[in-house]
Amino acid sequence: MNQDALKRAAAEAALAALHPGEIVGVGTGSTVNHFIELLAGIRDRVPGAVSSSQASTERLLRHGIAVLDLNEVIAAGRPIPVYVDGADEIDPSLAMIKGGGGALTREKILAAAAGSFVCIVDRSKCVDVLGRFPLPVEVVPMARELVAASIRAIGGEPCLREGFVTDNGNLILDVAGLEIRDPLGLERTINQWPGVVTVGLFAARGADLALVAGAGGIERRERSRG
Ligand code: A5P
Repeated sequence: MNQDALKRAAAEAALAALHPGEIVGVGTGSTVNHFIELLAGIRDRVPGAVSSSQASTERLLRHGIAVLDLNEVIAAGRPIPVYVDGADEIDPSLAMIKGGGGALTREKILAAAAGSFVCIVDRSKCVDVLGRFPLPVEVVPMARELVAASIRAIGGEPCLREGFVTDNGNLILDVAGLEIRDPLGLERTINQWPGVVTVGLFAARGADLALVAGAGGIERRERSRG
């Protein structure tokens, strides 16, 4: 099976985790694009989705799935039992690097709003230690160099994602050279630097369930509690 077929297999497995009749949180990326297509096949059981990016919103609408405003959903007290998204890397504790597609801020918001985070990946995304994939950091434009200097001070090599502006009007610094042995500590550290909107480390709110597609089928990995 090629990588795209594995992504589709992971997306297919996520359908079983959904709660029929409830709103679905939808991430961003090529794996999620498969999920959106598959979701269209059961749209009579999906009252709507909350979306993590303009790209996913457009795709959901093209597939006839209503896109709801997160503020209205929360104000109405409507639950979002499940958020489905991919990852750039995922470690054994189900902490992740995300943001390869630049949607990390809205992805983190939806992950926080949802009851459960279901991560869909092919096996190539599984690592023992996060950091081979450059860590995306969304920054307010005027703070770009200030944040870059702080990144260098902790041993990272920041690189501006050229020609890219996030859905929130900000920039992305992709940070190479980090071996992330304490994802939660690093997430907290970078998050509190002035000018940082979001760091693409998802450790404080990691995945609850990872559906990992490999040559032998789907492996379910659940976050250990306690
Ligand atoms: C989008 O900003 C990312 O967080 C994606 O979830 C991540 O890059 C995975 O993308 P693919 O499914 O395209 O590999």
